[in-house]
Formats: sequence, structure tokens, C-alpha cells
Amino acid sequence: ADEPLVLGIETSCDETGVGVVRGHTLLADAVASSVDEHARFGGVVPEVASRAHLEAMVPTIQRALKDAGVTPRDLDGIAVTAGPGLAGALLVGVSAAKAYAYALGKPLYGVNHLASHVCVDQLEHGALPEPTMALLVSGGHSSLLLAPDITSDVRPLGSTIDDAAGEAFDKVARVLGLGFPGGPVIDRYAREGDPDAIRFPRGLTGPRDPLYDFSFSGLKTAVARWIEAKRAAGETVPVADVAASFQEAVTDVLTRKAIRACKDHGVDHLMMGGGVAANSRLRAMAEERCAAAGIELRVPRPKLCTDNGAMVAALGAEMVARGRAASDWELPADSSLPV
Ligand code: KG4
Ligand code: ZN
Repeated sequence: ADEPLVLGIETSCDETGVGVVRGHTLLADAVASSVDEHARFGGVVPEVASRAHLEAMVPTIQRALKDAGVTPRDLDGIAVTAGPGLAGALLVGVSAAKAYAYALGKPLYGVNHLASHVCVDQLEHGALPEPTMALLVSGGHSSLLLAPDITSDVRPLGSTIDDAAGEAFDKVARVLGLGFPGGPVIDRYAREGDPDAIRFPRGLTGPRDPLYDFSFSGLKTAVARWIEAKRAAGETVPVADVAASFQEAVTDVLTRKAIRACKDHGVDHLMMGGGVAANSRLRAMAEERCAAAGIELRVPRPKLCTDNGAMVAALGAEMVARGRAASDWELPADSSLPV
């Protein structure tokens, strides 16, 4: 086969992900999550995450290779998330990737976490159009990216000026007493609620506001105040309505700005990725609004939206296919790596 066979390692947050791809074909996607160990702290604890990565790293690599039915000898390269992310967590993945690449005599490819969230869609819907317009929404990021070349030229058009979209989901879930991570729980409660029950603010959508930047901290505070007022008045909090109305505010702003960016830049498709792109309301609203605007929507299945190793392998394979230079053995783990 002439399509590159690449193993990808992802350890930027709390998932130890190892994927194997051949070109645009997904062969294995092994994920070990430490999310349960963080739940009682209400957020990811970096030291706990690093230790969990150390324990899960080698078994997860072995499982991915076995699932893919390939021998390490056949690999064309080993890709790894070099950043951004938690420094200690990244270091575990980068060290493992270097060790395997060096021992096997394979090229090493350090990749950007955000770019790989976008590139993963090639495993689902084939080659990405160029330029690619992507809305990347996760626990750590909320950005609109325009990528003329996903391996070497990814331009941030705008991003959040305070909380990431996923962070807002997590914080609102906490105020509602729903546990961590908040996204999936709010998604579930919202299905039983009325999205128009409460009109929460849409941040940065005024006529003089930046077009492609986001702000979710005002929304989070508005939700918290609304809940406090209800409790102070001795009334019960309608959890499903709050969840649905909050979720509606987030998805309204995200889809509006993403479609605006597509129109302004003459791009006829929109890729959505990151953990929040697993949200059922965001997917439905984006589908509806993109169709109305004549824009093709590309969203991978939820498991490929949240952090995983397959996305890293996908970007690594694209780098091999395009003849990009491999990283050297000094490749640093860079917690604030820009796209
Ligand atoms: O991409 P990801 O797995 O990790 C980061 O790079 O941050 O995203 C995790 C975030 C969390 O904030 C989580 O609450 C959110 O994605 N999330 C969701 C859903 N599933 C995960 N947010 C809204 N709806 C969901 N269904
Ligand atoms: Zn991520």
C-alpha cells in the first residue's frame, strides 16, 4: 500500500489516546481516560492526569497496534501531540513517541492539537477541501480557524476572550450540581427542557463587537445569577429548562459566527471539531443553519470529536503524504504551542 501508515499519540489532557491510520482510513482508536479520577475534584488535575498517562501509555499503544493488526515495523511514522495542553501530560506522550520512534528507526512528527482536531475529519469524510474553515470547540479552546494547508498553514480568525465553550458547559453543570464533565450531562437534560424558557445573553454579538471572537464568561455568570435568584426566592430550579436555554445561547453564537466566517471568506463548507462538537443541539442547529446558507457541514462522529489518538495519526499521515520534514529528537512539549 502506498498510503502512509502512521501511529498517533495524544496526551494533552486527560485521555491517553493512541490511533493507527492508513492515509484517510481509521485502523484503530484506543483511548484510556482518567476522567473518573478527576470527577471528584470537579476538573482535570494535571498531576493526576500525568500519572494516569504514564500508567496507560504502553498498554494503550500495544492495544492500538493489536486492534489495527499491524506490526510496528510497517509504520511510516509516529506522530504525537506536541501542544498545546498540560505540560506534564504532553511530556509523557512526547517521551513515549520519541522512545518508540528511536527504537524502531521511524520518523517522528510533532503535531498541533488544534490542527489534529480538524484533520480527523479526513477519516470520516475524506480529503478536506482547501482552504478549510473549522469551528473548534472544546474544554480548552473555542476558535474559528481558516487553514489553507492543515499541515503547515492554520490561521486563527478569532477565539474566546475568556472561557472556552466546554469550560462554560462544565461550570454551568457544576452550578446545577450535575457533576463533571458537564457537556454530556447538560446535553442530556436539555433534551427535556425548553430552549426558549430563559433568554440568556449572546456574548460579543453586538454591532461593534469583534466578528469572530467569542465570550462565554458573561453567559456563565448570567446563568449562575439566575439560579441564585430562584434559590433565594425559595423556588425550585427548572434544571432541564436552564440547561436547554444555556445550551441554546452557546450554540446560537457558535453557529452564527462560524457561518458568518464562511460567507466572509467565500468558503462553502464548515468543519466542526473538539469535545463540544459532540453536542447534539450544536450538531442539529449547525446542520439546519448551514443547509439554509448553502454550506456543507462536516462533523466527525462524537468519539472522533473528543480527544483521541486517531486525530494525531490522521495529521501525521497527511504530513508524511505531503513530504513534510520530520521533527528532530529535541522536539519539545510546548503547553502553549500556537497553531
Ligand atoms: O476536545 P475535548 O475532549 O478536550 C479538550 O481538548 O478540551 O473536549 C472536552 C470538553 C469538555 O468541556 C466537555 O464538557 C465538552 O467537551 N463536551 C461537551 C459534550 N461532550 C463533551 N459539551 C457539550 N455537549 C456535549 N455532548
Ligand atoms: Zn482537544
